[in-house]
Amino acid sequence: FHDYDLIIVGAGFFGATVAERAANQLGKRVLIIDRRSHIGGNAYSENDRQTGIEVHKYGAHLFHTPNRTVWDYLSRFTRFTDYRHRVFTSYRNQVFAMPINLGTICQFFGRQFSPDEARALIAAQAAELEGRVPRNLEEKAISLIGRPLYEAFIRGYTAKQWQTDPRDLPESIITRLPVRYNFDNRYFNDPYEGLPVDGYTAIFKRMLDNPLIDVQLATDYFAVRQAIPSDKTVVYTGPIDRYFDYRAGELKWRTIDFQEEVLPVGDFQGTAVMNYADEDVPYTRILEFRHFNPERDYPADRTVIVREYSRFATRADEPYYPVDTLEDRRTYLAYRKLAEEETGVIFGGRLGTYRYLDMHQAIGAALKSFETEVSPRLIGAERAA
Ligand code: FDA
Repeated sequence: FHDYDLIIVGAGFFGATVAERAANQLGKRVLIIDRRSHIGGNAYSENDRQTGIEVHKYGAHLFHTPNRTVWDYLSRFTRFTDYRHRVFTSYRNQVFAMPINLGTICQFFGRQFSPDEARALIAAQAAELEGRVPRNLEEKAISLIGRPLYEAFIRGYTAKQWQTDPRDLPESIITRLPVRYNFDNRYFNDPYEGLPVDGYTAIFKRMLDNPLIDVQLATDYFAVRQAIPSDKTVVYTGPIDRYFDYRAGELKWRTIDFQEEVLPVGDFQGTAVMNYADEDVPYTRILEFRHFNPERDYPADRTVIVREYSRFATRADEPYYPVDTLEDRRTYLAYRKLAEEETGVIFGGRLGTYRYLDMHQAIGAALKSFETEVSPRLIGAERAA
């Protein structure tokens, strides 16, 4: 560890961005370690051995951003396809476009509505609570979109996501449920969207392709921590509660179990993501990866699908989505305090800051952390030496 100016824990988007900047902009020597056997963090993907189809190993990853700086930055390491994400949902054996839009509303209520008629209908249905403050997620959702759409598209899906009746979930989980009063069924509104032409892992290879950067995989920080000299700057993107040995309590997460299958058909569902809103279907959605890359030459007789099952995470599981109750917020603040006192260590990324971050947000946060925390520290150390 003595040879390096900077040690980074975690080779996801946060760690890789900081490593790339420290090496390419400042000419610093960087060691990046990850306990997994691959780079890329949760954005890692690999080509399925039987079919060659690129599979995102930790769930579907769609790149989109409103942030021109992040888009330009990432474009140094990849070109993007013109993929535009769309999501459908299966409910009682019918298929509807998500997020709820005028097409969904016309189909669901079985007639044509103008935008104003649809607005009036949803407003009337959402008035069911008569101004009462929603006491749980169900009431909150009804106050936003009315009962019929809630019961079809939100209730079962949410119950499966949280393994909890929506009447027992806090209303604070949802602040808004987007309804579009036009026929636009693009999932994201961002001006920049696309998938990496050569896949996600190629981005990370290019970001870390610098003789000043060494990558050490299958290495857990806590197994080597003692050997790192105390004057080294460390960027830590693992779970913040684990760093402090859970001394202020455990932060709660949800996880997903992925059930992957290769099927002997050319096209299983005709689209990349099909949600399942019915409560009696145990999975929340099915991904079919070939549809993310229609430009590629994939086999015509085989396809890869993944069913997703959602549940609360234990310590042994991959943490995916912060549960983020008020109690979690309090616990996190206690860790923030400890982190501020931990000189020489910068906490970042989704695990290090207990926040759901999209990829563009993780990259944006890393660029900012590099400018305001990492770079001043590395330059300061250089001056002191
Ligand atoms: P990330 O988790 O990627 O990296 C952290 C790394 O630290 C991991 O590789 C881990 O192994 C390592 N680590 C942890 N503890 C360690 C230790 N003790 N020692 C060594 N290494 C350690 N975003 C988006 O923009 N579009 C999308 O469609 C999706 N989809 C999506 C689906 C699902 C199911 C999830 C969970 C997330 C998404 N995301 C997403 C979010 C995206 O995955 C996220 O923005 C990035 O992974 C964040 O990058 P980080 O570097 O912060 O964490």
